[in-house]
Amino acid sequence: MLIQEVAPRDGLQSEAAFVATADKIALVDALSAAGFSRIEVSSFVSPRAVPALRDAAEVFAGIRRRPGTVCVALVPNPKGAERALAAGADEINLVASVSETHNRANMGMSPAASIEGFARIMETVRGARVSTNATVATAFGCPFEGGQAADKVIAQVERYLDLSIEGVTLADTTGMANPRQVERLVRRTLAILPASRLTLHFHNTRGVGLANVLAAYQAGARRFDAALGGLGGCPFAPGATGNICTEDLASMADEMGIAIGLDLGALIALSRSLPQLVGHDVPGQVARAGRPCDLHPVPKVA
Ligand code: COA
Ligand code: ZN
Repeated sequence: MLIQEVAPRDGLQSEAAFVATADKIALVDALSAAGFSRIEVSSFVSPRAVPALRDAAEVFAGIRRRPGTVCVALVPNPKGAERALAAGADEINLVASVSETHNRANMGMSPAASIEGFARIMETVRGARVSTNATVATAFGCPFEGGQAADKVIAQVERYLDLSIEGVTLADTTGMANPRQVERLVRRTLAILPASRLTLHFHNTRGVGLANVLAAYQAGARRFDAALGGLGGCPFAPGATGNICTEDLASMADEMGIAIGLDLGALIALSRSLPQLVGHDVPGQVARAGRPCDLHPVPKVA
């Protein structure tokens, strides 16, 4: 199983208090030192839309680039792609919702207009040393419109593939997915795309995040986004909360004998530094509980 760490981007994008650029750089450096092969570092979006990530270029300029860690930038439009390339992103992640209403709230345009922009981006990145991924946001439901037809989601995936975009992410932007739905949609997607090119992005808004991971895994998916400490949330969706938590997922995978290539103890230690970084508690559970095998002293009975 491959875990792409998204705390620096999804995790920090809706933090009310600005996290200092040097602290963001230290977080990304600590994550790449921990051995993540893929980190979503920041987004090149409008600084008015997401002031928390207005320092994306400085963060990219300041991080240590470890060979073997792909540094991803979220990109909403051609201007974002231009900025991400100038900053030296290894990969751009283009995002459009399947829901018309959510895309208008999030990106200020229709999904069709977003995807037209992606076509222009793909023209300009041809030949450049950057890989490409595109996300179908609200793929499992929209907080404004409700359920989204699987046919529409698959059509958007096909459109991405037509544009020669390499990777595709199905995102449960506001934690509306359930395991049955996940299993069905993952199976349909894997009929047109190999597992090596598909990522699942779940939020734990309703406590079903890891159940959805397991359903996707059993349906053949192998790549998952997660955020250290369970940080995260979409600033343009009311009540949105954190991503699935990296160390909670890592702990579950470890216990199940699924290799992830990351050291759980190191992840827990790093996660325990997050409350100081963001100024509040974070929702992850394993950093609080410790590893399942961490033994406790036997209480003294009087
Ligand atoms: N990066 C920085 N600035 C950008 C930009 C980008 N990618 N795209 C547009 N802008 C600037 C324009 O240059 C323009 O600046 P000006 O007013 O100084 O001339 C201004 O933003 C308005 O441009 P416009 O094209 O009309 O954009 P918009 O205001 O309709 O916003 C998006 C469209 C997509 C840029 C904005 O909605 C956005 O950044 N959304 C991302 C939201 C997000 O990150 N959500 C969470 C992750 S999915
Ligand atoms: Zn998200």
